Amino acid sequence: MARVNKRRTLNILDKQRKHSQFDYAEIFRHIRTNIEFSTVDRDIQSICITSTQSGEAKTTLSINLAYIFATKYNKVLLIDTDLRKNTIHKYMGLSNKQGLTDALADFRQKHMINYEYFQTVQHPSFIGELTVLTGGIHVPNPSELLGSHTFKDYINEVKKYFDFIIIDCAPVGMISDAIPVGNAVDGTIFAVSSQDTNKKDAANCIKQLQRNNVNVLGSVLTKAKTSSGNHYYYY
Ligand SMILES: Nc1ncnc2c1ncn2[C@@H]1O[C@H](COP(=O)(O)OP(=O)(O)OP(=O)(O)O)[C@@H](O)[C@H]1O
Ligand SMILES: [Mg+2]
Repeated sequence: MARVNKRRTLNILDKQRKHSQFDYAEIFRHIRTNIEFSTVDRDIQSICITSTQSGEAKTTLSINLAYIFATKYNKVLLIDTDLRKNTIHKYMGLSNKQGLTDALADFRQKHMINYEYFQTVQHPSFIGELTVLTGGIHVPNPSELLGSHTFKDYINEVKKYFDFIIIDCAPVGMISDAIPVGNAVDGTIFAVSSQDTNKKDAANCIKQLQRNNVNVLGSVLTKAKTSSGNHYYYY
């Protein structure tokens, strides 16, 4: 692992907890349970998060889910595959000097996982560590890279080393990257923002994913207003 980031101890769940009466951790635990029990026939060990368009809280959802999975599973990996607009490193205060794009170039040559590209985050709320693979250097052909055999093989290989993998992905309505990413994981969560998402567009995007054999597990409502109307709660 490249480094352990202990500076970043305040996660999004903490921030939310400080500003509201809601038990956000409980909401996320509930989502985690729903994901774990979403299919009967096979275990869900890797998921990707996508949505209709930009700004529907996919990255916020991915990070919060990664933290809540890390409270239960020892080895959790969060990957940023939104290669046009990678923000996980910014939200988590991590370096993006090297990340997924670099790891894939390395993997293509050596056919081995190089842990140098991973960063780890520790938090008092969980015993283990959360491992993060940021987007990495910008490449001119993100779709080609995510649609490659190298990407699929890489994900299959990292699955052997992690208990759970969460992948932040680009929105479906803008580019097709969520299809190869969704095909590489066990299930896809579709974020729907109560403030931004157009229902018809969301339904079309979900249909598009399903037509391409993406296993859509369900959706999570983001940016929802509370019944009191006084403030927003995240999910
Ligand atoms: N519940 C919420 N209420 C209000 N704003 C929120 C909420 N959740 C996230 N945001 C804000 O919405 C913006 C978009 O969030 P985020 O980056 O997670 O979305 P995204 O879907 O990943 O966007 P993009 O597609 O551009 O990567 C951010 O400024 C974030 O702080
Ligand atoms: Mg994002």
